[in-house]
Amino acid sequence: MNDTVEPHPSSFVIFGVTGDLAARKLVPALHALQRGGWLHPETTVLGFGRSDLSDDALRERLADALAEQQGGPLGDAWRHLAARIHYVRGGYDEPDAYARLAERLDDEGHADHVYYTATPPQTYGDIVSGLADAGLADETAGYRRLVIEKPFGEDLDSARALNALVLERFKETQVYRIDHYLAKETAQNLAVLRFANTLFEPIWSNRAIDHVQITMAEPLGMEGRGSFYDQAGVVRDVFQNHMLQLLALVTMEPPARYDADAVRDEKVKVLRALACADPETAVLGQYTAAPAGADRPDTPAYVDEPGVASGSRTPTYAAARFELHNWRWAGVPFYLRAGKRLEAKASEIVLTFRRPPHVPFDLPMPPRADRLILRLVPDEGISLRFNAKHPGQGIELDRVGLDFAYQGQYQRPNPDAYETLIQDVIEGDATLFMRADEVEVQWKVIAPLLSATESLRPLPYAAGSMGPVEAAELLARDGRHWYRPRKD
Ligand code: BG6
Repeated sequence: MNDTVEPHPSSFVIFGVTGDLAARKLVPALHALQRGGWLHPETTVLGFGRSDLSDDALRERLADALAEQQGGPLGDAWRHLAARIHYVRGGYDEPDAYARLAERLDDEGHADHVYYTATPPQTYGDIVSGLADAGLADETAGYRRLVIEKPFGEDLDSARALNALVLERFKETQVYRIDHYLAKETAQNLAVLRFANTLFEPIWSNRAIDHVQITMAEPLGMEGRGSFYDQAGVVRDVFQNHMLQLLALVTMEPPARYDADAVRDEKVKVLRALACADPETAVLGQYTAAPAGADRPDTPAYVDEPGVASGSRTPTYAAARFELHNWRWAGVPFYLRAGKRLEAKASEIVLTFRRPPHVPFDLPMPPRADRLILRLVPDEGISLRFNAKHPGQGIELDRVGLDFAYQGQYQRPNPDAYETLIQDVIEGDATLFMRADEVEVQWKVIAPLLSATESLRPLPYAAGSMGPVEAAELLARDGRHWYRPRKD
């Protein structure tokens, strides 16, 4: 994100403006950008949707959602933005609706347009064709940028087909495929940590690192998304995208420049070196109701969540071991795990270093391995855990840490990932978005796990636990154990 406002106002079109994503993420992000002075003051927002709504009714709906999220009344920044929000009614497959949208965009007179698909994935094809048929992909008068939300396809074939369809009507440079994890501060900071310091890069390989763990644990269940999730499951929902993106950021080679092409070239290269996920070294799970006496005893089993098919075999938890076949990472296992209704909210990357080759002290137990922990959620920050001498006579070891926490260091909260992403689209910076080849290689890596989800019955785990007990076995076979968030 640059610290200057775009010189031209643009029109920001949100397809699916009456949906959850627009109210929960997109409009709050536009509002925050407006309030912070990042958005050109004449930027307009065109909400497109199927319901019959007036401009005022749409503004009221969005204002209610925003006020609830902020926990108080809205101020001038909202009034300024709201006056520039308009509604266009239409079906996603209705050519006339796109003609009306084109007219409306013409009336606004802004040269540049952003189109955002905050709609169910099955509408993406219609939106791409509708825009292009109405001449709205043509960049003669100004830029036309298309933001596509995840999921991008549901497997390799459908992602390829969607890429083909999109790239028939838009150029790759116009397309911004979202993975919001890339815009989290700690994810962006990974590149800075590795490539703006000399301390870490020399030890960033199989020479010093024993293994890497990436965890994405969420206490939330379905939150009204049961019918979508039941079709997707954890592998499609977060492994194919967020988890593999984090893995790529940890393992990619240093790019020559920090720009969209150079960074994405390096990510694709490392993703291609990633062996396809092997179901033999994976554990799939599904949550059952919380046991009596638990913190949240009324938590239902996954199969009893609204929208979920009874007897569903969709996994809500997955843990898998990955290997990278290249010079830097050969021999280092990567253990990834993600799940819903787990004990705590925690997204983190833990690099565990090799143990000392020789210990000259007389100790009751070998020293614990050093760890570097990159926390994305909650309390974004970085910790280094290592051994130190306990003060006093003789040699006794204590576990100590060096900690950097964004919240302690800076006075204001980090921007939400969507603020960064929207600003980047407006500025034309695609570094934090996925390229066509990147999405496809991710589907390829995950394909064997996806097939496993069709044939295997997921193992049960109690809501509020850290997943199926069998996941511990996955590491125990290699003589390792899972890092327990915030407790090691
Ligand atoms: C989304 C997934 O991409 O990421 C959700 O679809 C998940 O299932 C969410 O809850 C988590 O994002 P965050 O930013 O809250 O960690």
